[in-house]
Amino acid sequence: MRRMNVVNRKQALKVVKELDAFPKVLDDCKETTASGGGVSILVFVFIFILIISEIIYQSTTSLKFDYQVDTGFDGKLKINIDLTVAMRCGLIGADALDATGQDTHGFGELSMDDTYFELTPKQLEYFQIVQEVNEYLRSEYHALQDLMWLSTGIISSYRRGMPKREVESNKQPDACRVHGSLEVNKVAGNFHITAGKSIPVFPRGHAHISMMVHESEYNFSHRIEKFSFGDSVNGIVNPLDGEEQITTDSEYCYPQCIDYHLFQYFMKVVPTEVRTYRAGNVNTYQYAVTERNRTINHSQGSHGIPGIFIKYDLNALKIRIREQHQPFLQFLVRLCGIVGGVFAVSGMLHNWTGTVVDIVCCRYGIGTKAQHSKEPSPTMSLTETNQDVITGPSLIPRDNS
Ligand SMILES: *[C@@H]1O[C@H](CO)[C@@H](O)[C@H](O)[C@H]1NC(C)=O
Ligand SMILES: *[C@@H]1O[C@H](CO)[C@@H](O)[C@H](O)[C@H]1NC(C)=O
Ligand SMILES: *[C@@H]1O[C@H](CO)[C@@H](O)[C@H](O)[C@H]1NC(C)=O
Ligand SMILES: *[C@@H]1O[C@H](CO)[C@@H](O)[C@H](O)[C@H]1NC(C)=O
Repeated sequence: MRRMNVVNRKQALKVVKELDAFPKVLDDCKETTASGGGVSILVFVFIFILIISEIIYQSTTSLKFDYQVDTGFDGKLKINIDLTVAMRCGLIGADALDATGQDTHGFGELSMDDTYFELTPKQLEYFQIVQEVNEYLRSEYHALQDLMWLSTGIISSYRRGMPKREVESNKQPDACRVHGSLEVNKVAGNFHITAGKSIPVFPRGHAHISMMVHESEYNFSHRIEKFSFGDSVNGIVNPLDGEEQITTDSEYCYPQCIDYHLFQYFMKVVPTEVRTYRAGNVNTYQYAVTERNRTINHSQGSHGIPGIFIKYDLNALKIRIREQHQPFLQFLVRLCGIVGGVFAVSGMLHNWTGTVVDIVCCRYGIGTKAQHSKEPSPTMSLTETNQDVITGPSLIPRDNS
């Protein structure tokens, strides 16, 4: 029994030995060459550079986007508004209506402050920065996610908001700043500013009483400082921020200018969930917007109510943005690939160049060598072949040896 065991064990050991992928070669049988050494140094440097770049790549993160049906069906939607209309506050009413037909006073109240439409130099500078940022985002749309969460440079001055007026004017205020947040149902709806305060109308909706507003007082030129949905997030630039529309005097200015203008904005709101290291966990909304405007003139067949109408609808798909590190296992695999691959390929290249050099030398090369190979002595040929097998072609011409 015991002898059987011993025999078995010996056999197993033999099999394992045969599987050895790292056979030991006697040092006497190895030959090192100057060319091989040079190539090895190059290879080590190359591998080092590749490994460094791989580590740098590993330490960066990438953004991953995917889509999901928006499953939050009981939600509320916050609308943040800050805009200025070129009419006094007493003349206009601002509120939201949505598809549920709910009483608008349930959504909250917006503040309305009398102000001046003209901007002071500092305010103008700020407003132009906002417009520039927006212009940049529109032309380089792909850069959105890089710029969106930044908190430095141009964005940080953007975050501070519209500066106060440096000098108080003693003129009558000619404009109205409408600002604040409304909490509406998460369904399609519209936000509008038209002439006259609104009164609720049975059974649903409301009406704006515009009888008291004189024709010549209509002017829906406006400037939007901020229009966003959801909680405010630092660094997000919304498409409407920096929007400015100024109606010019129409040709029908006699005896009085009548400026019935309708501005419409159509929006698709896209819920966005952001999970990044810099911005943290943020649930917010982005939107795409289309702008239309026209002059109302019933005798010309252009009907409607003068005012600013912002219609929004919600997208059914939610975008998820996540910042991710490269997987660590892949990093290991790539490292092994680099080291092994560079060694193997450089060895092959070394071998081939050696072979090519050999062929060139034999063909066109030095006569002594050719003679040697024509009539070799038996011992010579033996050593020659031996050397060939072990060292491979070397870059040093044979006849020197
Ligand atoms: C109205 O729309 C046109 C083009 O659609 C645009 O050029 C213009 O600036 C807009 N605003 C006003 C006030 O006309
Ligand atoms: C509307 O108001 C703006 C700002 O005060 C002004 O520049 C513009 O000329 C006005 N439009 C008309 C038609 O009066
Ligand atoms: C509408 O257009 C007619 C001419 O087609 C003009 O006489 C009239 O003043 C315009 N009305 C307004 C409110 O611009
Ligand atoms: C090159 O590789 C071939 C195939 O492995 C081998 O037979 C030959 O001896 C090598 N040549 C040198 C110069 O190492």
